[in-house]
Amino acid sequence: MANFKITDAVTYVGVDDKDIDLFEGQYDVPNGMAYNSYIIFDEKIAVMDTVDASKTDEWLANVEAALDGKSPDYLVVQHVEPDHSGSFMALYNKYPDMKIVGNNKTFMFLSQFFEGLDLGERKVEVKDGDELSLGSHTLKFIFAAMIHWPEVMVTFESKEGILFAADAFGKFGTLDTDEDWACEARRYYFNIVGKYGLQVQGLLKKAAALDIKKILPLHGPILTENLGYYIDKYNTWSSYTPEDKGITIAYASIHGNTAKAAKEFAQMLEAKGAEKVSLFDLSRDDVAEAVEDAFRYDRLVLMSSSYDSGVFPAMEYFLIKLKAKTYRKRTIAIVENGSWAPSAGRVIKSYVEGFKDIDLIEPMVTIRSSLDSRTRAQLSELADKLVNK
Ligand code: FEO
Repeated sequence: MANFKITDAVTYVGVDDKDIDLFEGQYDVPNGMAYNSYIIFDEKIAVMDTVDASKTDEWLANVEAALDGKSPDYLVVQHVEPDHSGSFMALYNKYPDMKIVGNNKTFMFLSQFFEGLDLGERKVEVKDGDELSLGSHTLKFIFAAMIHWPEVMVTFESKEGILFAADAFGKFGTLDTDEDWACEARRYYFNIVGKYGLQVQGLLKKAAALDIKKILPLHGPILTENLGYYIDKYNTWSSYTPEDKGITIAYASIHGNTAKAAKEFAQMLEAKGAEKVSLFDLSRDDVAEAVEDAFRYDRLVLMSSSYDSGVFPAMEYFLIKLKAKTYRKRTIAIVENGSWAPSAGRVIKSYVEGFKDIDLIEPMVTIRSSLDSRTRAQLSELADKLVNK
């Protein structure tokens, strides 16, 4: 991405990464990823974050072009995760008079990533709520621990009403991708920040006291209009409130019989009037998207084959993800399949019992190898219960 001006004083100097295969080593990003970085020009010049190490050269060229021969006075490190601090040393070494702004955890993590780093006089350590004047612009640092690492802070610039939001309000996809914001922002939120709803709620409360006119996240587009829409979405997501009425069916099938049952069950739900049915083959579909829809909709059906006296691994992986993201406040139904000693339901239930505020529909349905008239009737009954929730 080429540089562009956001306001007279603030320039975008980030990069688009279209070469990435998996973000954070696990997430499919079909439209790549943006690592945003900004420069604020005033009497003093501040660079806001760096980018992933794979894009150091491109980013440095952007920074140099924007600086046009000037030297930055500060590098503000809002988040040390390598997608933002991977190019730290390049800028640090290039501008020996530039000071590094962070908090005590920022500096601890930087020294862990970069052995032998001794910031000495170059360190500007801030506390929650501290301010740094650049001239007519003033940066106020607001700690946002666990959104999504402990050292994270966001920065509010009051003259222009800009919230530099770190990972918050980010999404998957490069800046030049033309797509709906919510879809990839939601998948990003629940998979990356989802565990920390409470902390996001805390940040939203602090943000409500600020006159925010623009949100500049570290990933995804700069948000300049209808900010209430984005803030509302974050409020819904972080409070674990279902966003839409609908039923997610997540299934794990060995030979296809559980898959067949899941597809038939989806048709039953639709025929009975379900607002929306979202179906996932956990062995083949994007599990991050299944996690996203499990949170998006108010009801979830878990259907799995039994395996090695437990549950089929594709289902267990999904359950581990839901547990890690503190899944809660939903209605759940369980369907197991087993030919001689069905065991999937027991394992699924043990996970579900660990989730908070779950309405578990009993009894679970047990399929013996493949659907028959008995289990079809049970699924039909279950479908009625789910649709009428
Ligand atoms: Fe975009 Fe938590 O790093």
